[in-house]
Amino acid sequence: MNKVFGTMPNGEICHLYTLRAGKLTAEISDLGATLVRLWVPDAQGNVADVVLGYDSPDGYLESKTYFGATVGRNANRLAGSCFVLNGKTWTLDANEGPNNLHSGPCGYNIRLWDVYSHEEDRIVLHLHSPHGDQGFPGNADIFVTYLLESDGIRITYDAVSDQDTLFNLTNHSYFNLAGHQNQEKAMEQELIMPARFFNPDDAANIPTGELRSVEGTPMDFRSPKALSRDIGMDYEPLHLQGGYDHNFEVFCNPAAILTDPHSGRQMAVYTDCPGIQVYSGNFTEGDGKDGVVYEKRCGVALETQFYPDAVHHPHWPQPFIKAGKPYHSETKYRFSW
Ligand code: GLA
Repeated sequence: MNKVFGTMPNGEICHLYTLRAGKLTAEISDLGATLVRLWVPDAQGNVADVVLGYDSPDGYLESKTYFGATVGRNANRLAGSCFVLNGKTWTLDANEGPNNLHSGPCGYNIRLWDVYSHEEDRIVLHLHSPHGDQGFPGNADIFVTYLLESDGIRITYDAVSDQDTLFNLTNHSYFNLAGHQNQEKAMEQELIMPARFFNPDDAANIPTGELRSVEGTPMDFRSPKALSRDIGMDYEPLHLQGGYDHNFEVFCNPAAILTDPHSGRQMAVYTDCPGIQVYSGNFTEGDGKDGVVYEKRCGVALETQFYPDAVHHPHWPQPFIKAGKPYHSETKYRFSW
């Protein structure tokens, strides 16, 4: 089933596609290959939409929050908006001071993707990204598959380019397992993450290169704790980013488990990516779905990714891929209730 979502600036129509599996229902838009709604039950059978979003395409086109969107060709920040590949410097558009965030002002999150296939429980979206698009080398074909399973949503990224290039795709959903309208409960969600290290950033959110132990810091989520518990602590990385907005190593799977203590809904994140950005929604303010006016920190994003700015730290896992070689990456958000 699909319905009209609205109109793109060039007059093209974008749609919402429904997926169903067991007790879960999702809505995906071809605008940005975006997860717009995700309804999950609790033990009493009360269903809540657990992701933040907008009611109209304009919300997605105008905002800087990247709610639910597919982010690429390179997710997160790239210092100086350039990188060297095979001895050649590739320059991207700077959109955050001198740096590049989420591949610049013409991100995949504001493109209209082709719907390659749509069935009851899955949708495959395709985007052709030509050589030079956003400044990246290689004509690329990118496929994002959302597969709804009875216990969660699996997001798969497949891509190939005709030149050596960089792929680092992610999904930018913000979760509030209490339901997106129950904003005051968002930071009461409890997070467990086995990560032993995180990346401290400079004031521009660019990793300094240090991999710092979480031991004895507010970044330690190895035992469950509410997001709000340590967020106000006097700790420089929290001050610099205005809360949590950091990459953590994916030490093992699940990389993270988020629990809403009120409803009992739980979400475990499984990924093949080396890193996960924990972003406490420090800039979510604005008009949201269902007439809700979002306040600051009304959801948490758990973005699976290569480490931010990895291209400038060659000893970290690299997002580069050879011409003709398939890129494949998978993240599953698994729910229990
Ligand atoms: C993007 C990033 C987040 C965060 C915000 C800040 O959404 O993905 O990690 O840095 O920008 O506005």
